Amino acid sequence: MLRLILPDTRYLASYVAAMREGFEFGMCPILPEDEIKKIEADPFDHFEGYNRHGGMFTPTDGIPRPSVQHNFYWLVDEKDFIGAISVRYEMNDFLEVHAGHIGYGIRPSMRRQGHAKKIIALGLKKLKERGVTRVLITANEENLGSWKAIEANGGVLESKIDCIFDKGGLSRRYWITLKD
Ligand SMILES: CC(C)(COP(=O)(O)OP(=O)(O)OC[C@H]1O[C@@H](n2cnc3c(N)ncnc32)[C@H](O)[C@@H]1OP(=O)(O)O)[C@@H](O)C(=O)NCCC(=O)NCCS
Repeated sequence: MLRLILPDTRYLASYVAAMREGFEFGMCPILPEDEIKKIEADPFDHFEGYNRHGGMFTPTDGIPRPSVQHNFYWLVDEKDFIGAISVRYEMNDFLEVHAGHIGYGIRPSMRRQGHAKKIIALGLKKLKERGVTRVLITANEENLGSWKAIEANGGVLESKIDCIFDKGGLSRRYWITLKD
């Protein structure tokens, strides 16, 4: 059964294998081998860091802002790490334009099997549990897999804006209304 969990050392070997495949998304860039080895040797700080609250966070525009309430989850089955999702329960001026309530990635060897659709659906449940009813998700215009998965979860395209992230081009901004 697929589920979201907080990072857990029981899945460390699978997570490390995913990083070696080139697992990535906004908060989880592709890491060089020396960084992967450090995580493998001492995973606790790495795991805990993603769910640390308080303090400041500096997004792509380089302007530090107070960190919003959030959680970082892994999508797993009984034995494997499949992907990860950042769920943000609050917005700030950067998030409400560029990054939205959730960001996610699926490990390369497990793509094209519906996992992005599933991780978004599970992320939406987490938001609903915390009282969020209008959800913003953004995807680069070139990232067909990402925006098809958003649309499959009821995403309604509101606008396209210049993309501030690495890939440049346009960013598609979608809203999903969570009903009772
Ligand atoms: C984008 C990403 C999350 C898609 O994950 P995935 O598990 O392969 O997506 P799904 O299997 O749920 O596919 C969703 C839809 O997109 C399609 N799709 C997925 N990848 C695609 C691709 N590279 N090209 C064209 N279509 C694609 C699927 O066929 C499916 O279409 P359908 O609804 O017609 O069946 C994954 O490629 C990834 O992790 N990329 C790197 C990180 C990233 O871009 N994250 C998103 C932005 S934060």
